[in-house]
Amino acid sequence: MLFPALLILGVAAAEAATAWDGSRFAWYDSDARTDFKSALPIGNGRLGVAIFGTGVEKLVLNENSVWSGGWLDRANPKSKDAVPAIRKMLISGDMTSAGKSAMDNMAGNPTSPRAYNPLVNMAMDFGHGSGISSYTRWLDTFQGTAGVNYTYGGTNYNREYVASYPHGVLAVRLSAGQPGKLSVNFALSRSQWVLSQTASVNNGAGGHKVALSANSGQSSGAITFWSEARIVNSGGTATSDGKTISVSGANTIDVFFDAESSYRYPDASGAQAEVKRKLDAAVAAGYPAVRSAAIADFSSLMGRVKLDLGSSGNSGQQPVPARISNFKKNPDSDPQMMTLMFNFGRHLLASSSRDTGSLSLPANLQGIWNQDYSPAWQSKYTININLEMNYWPALVTNLADTHKPVFDLINVAIPRGQTMAKTMYGCDRGFVLHHNTDLWGDAAPVDKGTPYTVWPMGAAWLSADAMEHYRFTQNKTFLAQVAWPILRETAEFYHCHLFKWNNYWTAGPSLSPEHAFKVPQDMTQSGASEGIDISIEMDNQLLHQLFTNIGQACALLNLTVPICTTSITTYLPNLRPPAISPTTGRLQEWRSPSYTDTEPGHRHFSPLWGLYPGQQLAQSANLTAAAVALLDHRIASGSASTGWSRAWAVNLYARVAGRADDAWRHAQQLVATFLLGNLWNSDSGGTSPFQIDGNFGLVAGVAEMLVQSHETVEGEDGGVVVHLLPALPGKVKEGRVEGLLARGGFVVEELVWRAGKFVKARVKARSGGAVTK
Ligand SMILES: *[C@@H]1O[C@H](CO)[C@@H](O)[C@H](O)[C@H]1NC(C)=O
Ligand SMILES: *[C@@H]1O[C@H](CO)[C@@H](O)[C@H](O)[C@H]1NC(C)=O
Ligand SMILES: *[C@@H]1O[C@H](CO)[C@@H](O)[C@H](O)[C@H]1NC(C)=O
Ligand SMILES: *[C@@H]1O[C@H](CO)[C@@H](O)[C@H](O)[C@H]1NC(C)=O
Repeated sequence: MLFPALLILGVAAAEAATAWDGSRFAWYDSDARTDFKSALPIGNGRLGVAIFGTGVEKLVLNENSVWSGGWLDRANPKSKDAVPAIRKMLISGDMTSAGKSAMDNMAGNPTSPRAYNPLVNMAMDFGHGSGISSYTRWLDTFQGTAGVNYTYGGTNYNREYVASYPHGVLAVRLSAGQPGKLSVNFALSRSQWVLSQTASVNNGAGGHKVALSANSGQSSGAITFWSEARIVNSGGTATSDGKTISVSGANTIDVFFDAESSYRYPDASGAQAEVKRKLDAAVAAGYPAVRSAAIADFSSLMGRVKLDLGSSGNSGQQPVPARISNFKKNPDSDPQMMTLMFNFGRHLLASSSRDTGSLSLPANLQGIWNQDYSPAWQSKYTININLEMNYWPALVTNLADTHKPVFDLINVAIPRGQTMAKTMYGCDRGFVLHHNTDLWGDAAPVDKGTPYTVWPMGAAWLSADAMEHYRFTQNKTFLAQVAWPILRETAEFYHCHLFKWNNYWTAGPSLSPEHAFKVPQDMTQSGASEGIDISIEMDNQLLHQLFTNIGQACALLNLTVPICTTSITTYLPNLRPPAISPTTGRLQEWRSPSYTDTEPGHRHFSPLWGLYPGQQLAQSANLTAAAVALLDHRIASGSASTGWSRAWAVNLYARVAGRADDAWRHAQQLVATFLLGNLWNSDSGGTSPFQIDGNFGLVAGVAEMLVQSHETVEGEDGGVVVHLLPALPGKVKEGRVEGLLARGGFVVEELVWRAGKFVKARVKARSGGAVTK
C-alpha cells in the first residue's frame, strides 16, 4: 500500500538493492547524518523540504518568499551625472579612472540586495537511536516523492514524503509493520527571530497543530511568515506541552505542512487564513488522496520526456555514494547515471518552480532548498548566467509550465528597473537590471568590483528567454501579453542608453561578466587589471538578439509602433559585429585585440553567448571557427572550473559540429567532479557550496546532444530546422528519447538510434507547421 512504486517492481526488502531502476531512483543505505548536502530534496514549486532520514528525523523546510527583508532602495543617485564622464574616460582609454569612478558613483548602497533565508526545521523524534538496521532511503524522480525505511527493535518503520502542487502542502505518512508501534514527538524550530510558537491537541477533525511564526528580523519591511503542521494519528494518543505534539502508540501518523508569508499576503489575517484553508483541505482529503493527486500532477510533467542512454546493469543498482565513486573511476560503466542526472534535474525544476499565482518565484541559486541565514551568494537570482541556466531545460524538455515564475518576477522587476533607468542613467523610458535581482525585483548594481558590478544588461538576457518561450510554445497570447511588454521595455532602455562610438551603437560603462582584462600599452594605466569598458562582445550579441527579437515579435503581432521600426532600421544594422583577433584567431572578448585576459581559463563563457544559448555566432563559418578557438583556449587554460561553467561547456560543444565527444566528456566530468552527496551540483566540487544551475545546465546539455532547433531555414521567414541527433556522442551507441521539444512547436515524440546511427523518429507539429525532411 505504502510503496506502490516498489511494489509494482515486485521486490522484497532483501532484494531491494537489485531492483531499483537506476535511471529513476536515487537511493542510499544510510542517512544524511548532519549533512544538508546529502539530504533528499522534494518540493511543490513553492515549499521545499530536504529530508535527512536520520533516527530523529530532521526536515529543513523552505518557502520561496522567505528572504532576509523588505525592498531596499539601493540606487546610487550620483550615477546619472557620472555616466557621461565615465564614457568619455573609456573612449579616451583612461580605463583605471573610469573603473574607479564607476565604483564610486554607480555601485549600489548597500551593495547587496536581500538574501534567501530558511523557513523552519521540523524534528520527528521516534526515540530510535542506535539499533537501526536494514536502512534504506530513496528519492523517486518520476513521482517527486521520497521515503525512508528501516528495522528497529524487530519492527519495520516507514516514512513517505510527498510535495503536493495540487493541495499546496507537503505531506508525510509514518507507519510501522505492527500496530501501536509508532511513538513520535513533533517540533518546529528556528534559530532566529521567532515571534510565536504554539501546539495544541485536537482529537476532532483537522488534526493536532504545531505552529511557528517568525520574521526576517528587520525593523521595517520585515517579511513575516506563519508555518503550521497538522498531525493526524490513527490509533494511539496525543499530548502537548504547548510547543510540541507527542503521539504514542499509533498505527500510522500523517503530517501536513504549509507556510505562507507577508510577501503574498501583506495582511497577517490573509496569510493565516491561507494556511488554514490549505491545511483544512489537505486533512479533510486525507493522506492517500493528497498523495495520489500530487503524484498524478508530478508524473504528468516528468512523463512528458523519457530518456534511455543504455543500461548499466549492476552498476546502476548501487546506492548513490557507490555510484558516484564508481563513476569517478569508470564513467562508461554507468550510462544510467547520466539518465538519472537528467531525470533528477527535471525533478528539481518541477519541484522548485511552479505557477503559484501572479507572484510565483523562480528557482534561485539553490532552487528552493537552503538552511543558511547567509547562504552562498545570498542564494539570490543571479542573471549574468545562473538564473537563465536554471531554465535552459524548461522548454526543450517540455516543462514550459515551470518557466512562468521567471516572467512573474520580471513583471515585479519592471517598475523597479524603470525607476533605476531614470535614477542611474537619466532614461525616462524602459527598464534596466544589473547582474542580480531578488524577490522584490531589485534593479541596482550588486557588490563592488569592476569585473561584475556595473553590467546594465540583465534585462537583455531575460528578454531573450521570453522570446525563446514563444519560439518553443508558439503561444501567441504569451507573445502579446507577456513577452512583448518585456521586449519593448528592454528595448526602450537601450534606445536611450546606447551611444555612438566608431559609428556603432554601443552600451557602457559595462563589462564582460566577471572577467577582468589587462589594460593595453596605449591606454592607462597600462598593465592594470580592469573590468569596466564599452562595446563588450557579449553586450553586442545580447543587443543583436534583442533587436532581432523585436523585429520578429513586431512582425508576428502586426505592430508598427516606432520601437519596431527604429530597432530594426536604426539599431540592429549599426551594432559592432563580432571581431576575430588577428593575432590569435579567437573571437575577441573586448573591443580591441590588444586587451589581454587576466584569466585565460575564466569560468564565464560570456563572449560565446551567441554560440549557446544564442545563435549569432552559428551564422557564419568564420565566426563559428573563432568561437570554437576561444572555447578550446578557455578550456585548455582551466575553464569549466565550476559545475555551472562545466555545464555551459557541455551545451557549447553540443552546438559545434564534430565536437559531440567533447560535450559528452564534459558532461561526464561534471558528474564525476561536481556532485554533492545528494546529486546536487556544487560550485567547485568537494564541500564547496550547493549551486543548482549546474544540475539544470547538464539536463539541457544532454537534450542539446539529441535535438537542436536554433537554425532557421534560409530564405523562409520563421521556418526552423529540427536537427535530430546533431551531437550524438560516440560512446552513446544505443538509445531512445521521447518528448523533447523543438522551436516552432514541434514535439519529437520518438527518436531511436542504434550502433551510433539514426534508426527512426516521429515528430509532431503541435502548431500546425509543416515538417519537411
Ligand atoms: C522498505 O520498503 C520496502 C518496499 O515497500 C519493503 O518491502 C521493505 O519491507 C521495507 N523495509 C523495511 C525495513 O521496512
Ligand atoms: C499561453 O500564454 C498565456 C499567457 O501567458 C497563458 O495564460 C496560457 O495558459 C498559455 N497557453 C498554454 C496552452 O499554455
Ligand atoms: C497579422 O496580419 C496578418 C495578415 O495581414 C493576419 O493573418 C494575422 O492574423 C495578423 N496577426 C495578428 C496577431 O493580428
Ligand atoms: C567572416 O566571413 C565573411 C564572409 O567571408 C566576411 O564578410 C566577414 O568579414 C568575416 N568576419 C570576420 C569577423 O572576419
